[in-house]
Amino acid sequence: MRQVSSGKGAIGIFDSGYGGLTVFRQIRDLMPQYDYIYLGDNARAPYGNRGFDTIHQFTWQAVQWLFGQGCPLVVLACNTASAKALRTIQQQDLPVSDDPSRRVLGVIRPTTEMLGTLTKTGKVGIMGTEGTVQSGSYVIELQKFWPQLQVFQQSCPMLVPLIETGMHSSAGADFFVRYYLDALFAQNNTIDTVLLACTHYPLLLPLLQSLGPAGMQYVAQGPIVANSLADYLLRHAEMKQRLTTRGDVQFFTTDSIVGFEQHAAIFYGQPVIAQQVFLG
Ligand code: DGL
Repeated sequence: MRQVSSGKGAIGIFDSGYGGLTVFRQIRDLMPQYDYIYLGDNARAPYGNRGFDTIHQFTWQAVQWLFGQGCPLVVLACNTASAKALRTIQQQDLPVSDDPSRRVLGVIRPTTEMLGTLTKTGKVGIMGTEGTVQSGSYVIELQKFWPQLQVFQQSCPMLVPLIETGMHSSAGADFFVRYYLDALFAQNNTIDTVLLACTHYPLLLPLLQSLGPAGMQYVAQGPIVANSLADYLLRHAEMKQRLTTRGDVQFFTTDSIVGFEQHAAIFYGQPVIAQQVFLG
C-alpha cells in the first residue's frame, strides 16, 4: 500500500523564471491569508524553445521539490510548462507518486474558459512561446469551450529573453514587438482580443498598446488564474483545509539570488528576498 500523507503546507507557484510572478502577485492580492512558496528555475530559463521531454523533466523536478517543501498544491504559473508538462504530470507522474492526493494546476484551462467571453468579432490572437504555440494547447482547449471562435497564433521567441534580461523597454524591444504584432495581424485583421499566453508578457503591455492597433484588447492571465484558483478552493474543501494560513511568502530561484531579487521586484511589484536551490 502506498503511503498517503495529507500534511498541511503552502501553495507552490512555479515558473521557468520571473514571469510567474505576474500571476503570483494577483493570487496573493486576492488570497493573502495563505502561505506561498515561489520557485523560479532561472538557471535553466527560458523553457520556451526547449523540447517536450526536457520541459517535462525540468517541471516535474520543480514540482517534486515544491512537494518536498510540504506544498499539497502547486500552480504552474507558466504557459510553456502547462502546455508541455502538465498533462503528463497529472496523468502519469502524480498517480504513482508517494502522495497522489496532491494537485498540480496550470494556467491554460482557466484562461480558455474566459477568453470567449471577451471577444466581439470572434477572432482571437494568441501570443506565446514557441513551445506553447507548437503544442497547440490553446487551439485545442478553445475549440472545446468556444467552437465558434477563430484562433490565430503567433510564437514570439525573442520576447522572453528580452524580458529576462531587462531589455523590454529598449529600442530593440520595439523592433521585435512590432514584428510579432505585424505577423499576428497579417493572419487576420479583425482580431479584437489578444491573449498574452506567456506569463512574462504583461511587462510588455505598454509597448503592445502603443505599437499595436488602437483599441486592441490585450488579456493578461494573472487576474483570471487568481480567480480560478479561488474558485477551485471553494469547490475543493479537502484541499483548502490542507493549506496553511500564516500569510508567509518565500521565494526560491535556481540561479543567483542577487540577480533574482533585482529582476523579481519588477515583476512582483514589491521587494523580494530570495534563497537559492539546486534542482536535478
Ligand atoms: N513564462 C513562461 C510562459 O508563460 C515562459 C517562459 C520561458 O520561455 O521560459 O510560457
